[in-house]
Amino acid sequence: MLRGALIGCGFFAANQLHAWRDLEGVEIVAICDTDATRLAVTGDQFGIVRRYIDAAEMLAAEKLDFVDIATTPPSHRALVELAARHRLPVICQKPLAATYADAEAMVAACAAAGVPMMVHENFRWQAPIRALRTVIDEGRIGTPFFARFAFRSGFDVYAAQPYLAEGERFIIEDLGIHILDVARFVMGEAATLACRIQRVNPAIRGEDVATIMLGHAGGATSIVDCSYATPIHDELFPQTLIEVDGDRGRLKLEANYRLTIEDRDSLEVHDVAPPLLSWAERPWHGIQESVAAIQRHWVECLAAGCEPDTSGRDNLRTLALVDAAYRSAAEGRTIDVDPR
Ligand SMILES: NC(=O)c1ccc[n+]([C@@H]2O[C@H](COP(=O)([O-])OP(=O)(O)OC[C@H]3O[C@@H](n4cnc5c(N)ncnc54)[C@H](O)[C@@H]3O)[C@@H](O)[C@H]2O)c1
Repeated sequence: MLRGALIGCGFFAANQLHAWRDLEGVEIVAICDTDATRLAVTGDQFGIVRRYIDAAEMLAAEKLDFVDIATTPPSHRALVELAARHRLPVICQKPLAATYADAEAMVAACAAAGVPMMVHENFRWQAPIRALRTVIDEGRIGTPFFARFAFRSGFDVYAAQPYLAEGERFIIEDLGIHILDVARFVMGEAATLACRIQRVNPAIRGEDVATIMLGHAGGATSIVDCSYATPIHDELFPQTLIEVDGDRGRLKLEANYRLTIEDRDSLEVHDVAPPLLSWAERPWHGIQESVAAIQRHWVECLAAGCEPDTSGRDNLRTLALVDAAYRSAAEGRTIDVDPR
């Protein structure tokens, strides 16, 4: 039985705790939060009796196999480095850090300690996105040359996550990071990036609209477009809509998880809706299922001794795109993405 500890008992952590509870061979034996009320509520909800206000105290006292960090970004670096000092495998929520330099230091600390590190970058683990990628891998649309990854919503994300309205940076750092990661997952690495940002909602501090064009290393082009300012009648939050044009066919992940595969002669339609887990709640269920999938992957990687797909090292490439997007928007030019 793997013994894990979770740090950060906020809005999203409940998903992680539900998913851990469902997984065979893992138990979250201790939790930590600097906020005593959140700690108590979460401990009571999940029946976890070993509770700590201080993460350092928890890691010193508990016998653990891994740590799962679900706090907001300002605490990520110190907590990952703390886990590394204890030589504990560690999962950390996205965005790994506010700066690329911090993220690089965190990845280096885990590498030096010889412990696996995974970023909780769950969007590419969503069942509909996996289904789309499988069709590409099967060669059904030939070689992809264009893709669009769209997340356009008017959902009030600020209600459950008020800190999102307060940061100087918002949609690229918080949401675009997921969509850029999905773009990498589907279309491969990017060599160039151009981005425009807008702030439509005057009540928030950062940008709530971003339009990004990626030039992929193999010659393909992708558009990543994100908005939290779009008034929509039939809200699709938190669905990512995707189109991929290949030289032999076209693929679309449309509203409500309808996947179409077409060419000049045929059109196939598949329902690729994610399963509704027992603890899940619409409209979050697709995201919640991806949490279960990424955590299963972590357990499998620990058992097999292999690097997680969304390892810290891998995630640096996604963070490089986030960095490039803000730089491009500020400087008004196309950025060559450092292959690092
Ligand atoms: N992957 C996803 O789909 C997804 C979705 C939502 C949020 N997130 C990410 O999850 C993380 C948490 O977001 P949230 O909305 O749950 O935030 P939150 O503010 O609701 O919860 C964070 C919790 O961490 C605690 N905390 C902060 N610093 C701490 C420290 N040093 N030690 C112990 N506890 C500490 C806070 O008291 C709070 O209870 C963020 O990085 C966010 O981007 C990911």
